[in-house]
This record gives sequence, structure tokens and C-alpha cells, in this order.
Amino acid sequence: MACATHLIRAVKVMLTINNLRVSYRTSRGEVRGLTGVNFICKREKLGIVGGSGSGKSSIGRAIMGLLPRNAHLFADEMRFENNDLLTCGETAMRSLRGRRMAMIFQDPLLALNPVMTIGAQISESYKIHQGLSASVSRTHGLRMLRSVHIENPDQMWSAYPSELSGGMAQRAMIAMMLAGGPDLLIADEPTSALDAISGQAVLQIIDELVQSQGMGLLFISHDLSLVERFCDRIVVIQDGESVETIKASALSASDHPYTRALLAARPRLVAEASPTNHN
Ligand SMILES: Nc1ncnc2c1ncn2[C@@H]1O[C@H](COP(=O)(O)OP(=O)(O)O)[C@@H](O)[C@H]1O
Ligand SMILES: [Mg+2]
Repeated sequence: MACATHLIRAVKVMLTINNLRVSYRTSRGEVRGLTGVNFICKREKLGIVGGSGSGKSSIGRAIMGLLPRNAHLFADEMRFENNDLLTCGETAMRSLRGRRMAMIFQDPLLALNPVMTIGAQISESYKIHQGLSASVSRTHGLRMLRSVHIENPDQMWSAYPSELSGGMAQRAMIAMMLAGGPDLLIADEPTSALDAISGQAVLQIIDELVQSQGMGLLFISHDLSLVERFCDRIVVIQDGESVETIKASALSASDHPYTRALLAARPRLVAEASPTNHN
């Protein structure tokens, strides 16, 4: 029975995006950020991939209601579970953010407050999203820090963001963003600023959390190989438009010209690229 419930949760559509368009007003006129994006997301790992400037971050920010003031959003439909994101208003959006959907960014230092300890920030998240007292927040927060593989959570609790390496700050931000127990996590290039080993560790943490908490994940990246390995399905964005949605396992056989161009532009391992290397 538990298995059947899990299956129903897994197949249910969580997020529906239909003809999403975003434009930005600038001193040099209107910039078209998104011109027509369509996809659905279930409790799965959905990759959003495209070149730089193709509109990937605009998609994440539009869903979270975090577009800048110069942005204009239009869509035929934007729905997150029972919430119509087009009409629900800022108060409802604020209660969805953190508690139902959360976003993590490439640069954790932009999301963390430099003058507050990590513990105080995580504690505040638990207080805001779940109404927990300081001591219960601390217990939950330390457990969450352990789940993002922080070996010494007490030490991290009293650290300031500037005292942390990029990988550690990224883990602290993930712990803070997940304090509300969201159903959907949007990760915008979460490993792009990290070295390969820290990036791999952060990916593993995201994977474990998505599995253990049964979340849906929108994984935004310019890195096609990474998305192919990490995600279940992939939405390909070209110049503000979703041009293909494809299973990750079928990506290499895609016949869409833009996807093929992205595939051809992938950096290859030396051993793979060089026919003379027999190691
Ligand atoms: N705040 C902004 N003001 C003006 N133009 C913007 C703004 N944010 C994004 N854009 C433009 O929208 C397009 C998509 O940007 P973005 O969503 O950041 O792409 P990506 O994340 O794929 O690199 C780009 O042309 C970018 O210059
Ligand atoms: Mg971006």
C-alpha cells in the first residue's frame, strides 16, 4: 500500500509551465529573456539545460516569484500543485517560498547573510517556516547540517559565511533552504562555482536529499554531460524557448539540431578524444 502511495506521488504533476515569457525593461529597450517555455515537473530530477544567456535562471526566478522589478512575466499557465502562480499574489508566494518550494544558487555567499552566523540563519529559517523555538530549531538545524555531510555541525553553527570554503558555504545554504521541508527544489548551477571534488560532493548531497525527502528537483545547468548523468528528463532551452524535452537516457540519440549542437560542443575526456591514448 505504501508502495502504491509512493507511486501515485511520483507520477503526479507538481509543476506546470505553459508558454512562459519574460521580458526585461532596460535603458536600451526591451530584452526578451524567455519567449515560450513549456514543461511539467513531477517528483523527479528534471534538468533545464541551455547555453549562457538562454534564459535558464529566468525560469527558476519566474517560478519562485523572484524576478527583478524590471521584468515582465506572461504565461498561459503556471501552476504549482494547487496554486495558480499567475494570480496567487505576493503574500501567498511568500508562504510558498521556502515552505513548499526553495531555490539554491550558484553563489552561496549571495544567499547567506555575511553578518549572521550560519546557526542563526538556519535557526531563523526553521522559526519562519515551521514556527519552531530556538532550541528545537537548533536540534533540527544540526541534524540538517549532518545530512549535508558537515562533519562538525557545532563548529559550523557558530561560523560566519566568510569563514567557510565555497563547498562548505554551498552545503550551509542547502541546509538553510531546506529548513522549510519544500516539495520542489530549484537548483541554479549549484556546482558551477565549485572545484570538481566539492561539486561532486554537493551533487551527491542534493541527490540524497531529493531521494530521502521525496522532492521534485529542477536542476538548472549549462553542462549537458552533467545533466545527462544526474537527471531523469531534460528540457533543452534555446534563446528563451524550450525546444525539446527528452529522457536523459535518450539524449545522445536526440535528432533536434540545437541539442545535437550542444552535444557536439561538449568537452570530451582526453582518453575519449585521443585515438592514440591506449591507457
Ligand atoms: N535583470 C535583467 N535585466 C535585463 N536583462 C536581463 C536581466 N536578467 C536576465 N536578462 C537577460 O535575459 C536573458 C536570459 O538571462 P538568464 O535567464 O540569466 O540566462 P541564463 O541563466 O541561461 O544564462 C539574457 O539575455 C539576459 O541578458
Ligand atoms: Mg543563469
